[in-house]
Amino acid sequence: MTSDTHNAAVLEQYDSRAQAYLSSAVHAQGEDLALMASLVGQRPDAVALDMGCGGGHVAFRLAPLVSKVVACDLSAAMLDTVAAEARKRGLDNIVTEQSAAEALPCPSASFDVVATRYSAHHWGDVAAGLAQMARTVKPGGIGIFMDVVSPGQPLLDTWLQAIELLRDPSHVRNASLAEWQAALAAAGFAVEQVATYKLRLAFGPWIKRMRTPEVHVAAIRSLQQRASNEVRDHFRIEADGSFTVDTVLIQARKA
Ligand SMILES: C[S@@+](CC[C@H](N)C(=O)[O-])C[C@H]1O[C@@H](n2cnc3c(N)ncnc32)[C@H](O)[C@@H]1O
Repeated sequence: MTSDTHNAAVLEQYDSRAQAYLSSAVHAQGEDLALMASLVGQRPDAVALDMGCGGGHVAFRLAPLVSKVVACDLSAAMLDTVAAEARKRGLDNIVTEQSAAEALPCPSASFDVVATRYSAHHWGDVAAGLAQMARTVKPGGIGIFMDVVSPGQPLLDTWLQAIELLRDPSHVRNASLAEWQAALAAAGFAVEQVATYKLRLAFGPWIKRMRTPEVHVAAIRSLQQRASNEVRDHFRIEADGSFTVDTVLIQARKA
């Protein structure tokens, strides 16, 4: 199966997985979500953006803190799922917007808080997506950027990108923390705080969530079995294929 454009490949992967991302424990929980909520705090007049909202877990955390959350995603199915779940939870201040991060149709300086989680590594053009977040946040507004990050060293980086791509052909690249910091500075964000985490990915649910084809699952398992001690130790590869990645929360402010 081929996809005409990268964004078509993203939709091919995500449109039918909305429920899986809503119910995914890895996505619904996390110390990063708690830190994000405490960094934002109660802001009854604020408007927030959740870019690449997926199943909506950032939007659901922000909604009780602010006046309005715009949950934005390429996938209409994700947005329908977020809208239905928001109604179920009584979060009537979440609105949805279907858009690519790189072409956000919102007015300039319209958000007090912009956030994105586990999405930027799918964007075809991260610099353009961050430029849109910088354009649409008010001067002095907060940006919160959360993602799986590359450890940086080529030995570990290549291995991570390889298994991510085998699992999900819409994967583009997990940037390193240094790359994130450079990209945010280029977009006009001043980094104020960085928190790093380890996230264990249970192999079965990780593969099932993306319906990874058996031939790719076999290739991932083969790479894992042939991994060097450095790779095995860093990613804490377990007998059943479960492993642990590095994630980050970067809090920045628009100049
Ligand atoms: C792993 S899910 C996001 C998870 C969610 N933010 C959370 O915290 O649970 C990745 C989402 O990014 C969206 N996405 C990928 N590329 C995008 C782009 N260029 N613009 C907007 N959304 C994008 C996908 O459609 C998908 O819903």
